[in-house]
Amino acid sequence: MPRMHGPRHRAQLRKPTWIILLVCLIFMFLIFAYIYPPKNSSACYLFSSGGCKALSGWFPPPARELTDKEIASRVVIRELINASPLVTTSLKVAFLFLTPGALPFEMLWDKFFQGHEGKFSVYVHASEDKQLHFSRYFINREIRSDKVLWGRISMVDAEKRLLAYALKDTHNQHFVLLSDSCIPLRSFDFVYNYLMYTNVSFVDCFEDPGPHGNGRYSERMLPEVEKKDFRKGSQWFTLKRQHAIIIMADSLYYSKFRDYCQPGMKFGRNCYSDEHYMPTYFHMLDPAGISNWSLTHVDWSEGKWHPKSYKAQDVTYEFMKNITSIMNNFHVTSDKKKVVSISPCLWNGDPRPCYLFARKFLPQTLSNLMFLFGNYTSI
Ligand SMILES: *[C@@H]1O[C@H](CO)[C@@H](O)[C@H](O)[C@H]1NC(C)=O
Ligand SMILES: *[C@@H]1O[C@H](CO)[C@@H](O)[C@H](O)[C@H]1NC(C)=O
Ligand SMILES: *[C@@H]1O[C@H](CO)[C@@H](O)[C@H](O)[C@H]1NC(C)=O
Ligand SMILES: *[C@@H]1O[C@H](CO)[C@@H](O)[C@H](O)[C@H]1NC(C)=O
Repeated sequence: MPRMHGPRHRAQLRKPTWIILLVCLIFMFLIFAYIYPPKNSSACYLFSSGGCKALSGWFPPPARELTDKEIASRVVIRELINASPLVTTSLKVAFLFLTPGALPFEMLWDKFFQGHEGKFSVYVHASEDKQLHFSRYFINREIRSDKVLWGRISMVDAEKRLLAYALKDTHNQHFVLLSDSCIPLRSFDFVYNYLMYTNVSFVDCFEDPGPHGNGRYSERMLPEVEKKDFRKGSQWFTLKRQHAIIIMADSLYYSKFRDYCQPGMKFGRNCYSDEHYMPTYFHMLDPAGISNWSLTHVDWSEGKWHPKSYKAQDVTYEFMKNITSIMNNFHVTSDKKKVVSISPCLWNGDPRPCYLFARKFLPQTLSNLMFLFGNYTSI
């Protein structure tokens, strides 16, 4: 009798043990599939292509269902990004100057543009007062402008206005935003080739968990803009034509930033749309299509509210050589940890100098820059 007890007991256990084992296996598979959702076609092949779609539909993302407006917006954006260009010859780079008034480096830019007629166009948005221009490349290049308030949506509006005017010329293929304190660091040909043959737009974009990053996010931007997608970056972009067009096409995400990302404490947050709208927008809709760093060099190392302004005595050959030979870009978070991330500047996958332009130069640096231009741009 006792001998019979053992096997009978085991037989009773056998069924539940197998069920538990099976359930465990299924769980492990589900956890594995959650952590490593099938991305490539070979993984999909295992489940057949239809099964793959269904399977990836089970797991996040998407964590939520998109609204009708979001679906419509994404469809339009996808089509615009993949559209073929209208023209393929006589391609130009559009230089968009966003300035309150005078352009102290007009003569330096004149030197930069000389001899390259037909490969560029200039647009000036002077938000405070119209100026007399000295360079033939700048005369009659002012567009209709409106007031620009620092950190307000009017800054983004001015950028969009410049893009819209420049997009009217179908030969313009790449669009560069510049300020009155920006200077060129390279020869025209270097800049033209760098921009015309790149496969991304140079939009600065990083995730900053600190008060000057995610601390500016407001939940009123939900559901379209989630905190996990909120990004920060310098406003000084260069955009491929498709990307300039999708900025024109957007009102959904733009209106979220216009309404809920403002300076002042109206929403309990001090937010600046010009530093968040485009980085967040491109991060959400075409993350692989942007470089994640800006081509315009600036020095924040003093840790002040504004970046370092260069004076005449700062501008030496050695200094210009230093900034033109930088090969890594870096970002620092604004929280207490001050996490620094450094990445090589890759141009179509290859290491290249990071910067084509630099700011902020005081007008007093003009004569040094004019004197050194031929030298530092030939480095
Ligand atoms: C920029 O960052 C995103 C992630 O936010 C990444 O998917 C993309 O590949 C990066 N761009 C480049 C050119 O490395
Ligand atoms: C140039 O870079 C070197 C090495 O980083 C540094 O020692 C030097 O002070 C820099 N010079 C200028 C003028 O910025
Ligand atoms: C750009 O080119 C690099 C190198 O060929 C490639 O790895 C990357 O995926 C390309 N990016 C886009 C958006 O085509
Ligand atoms: C510019 O380059 C030339 C030739 O390399 C050199 O002789 C000259 O001293 C340089 N000028 C300055 C200001 O560095």
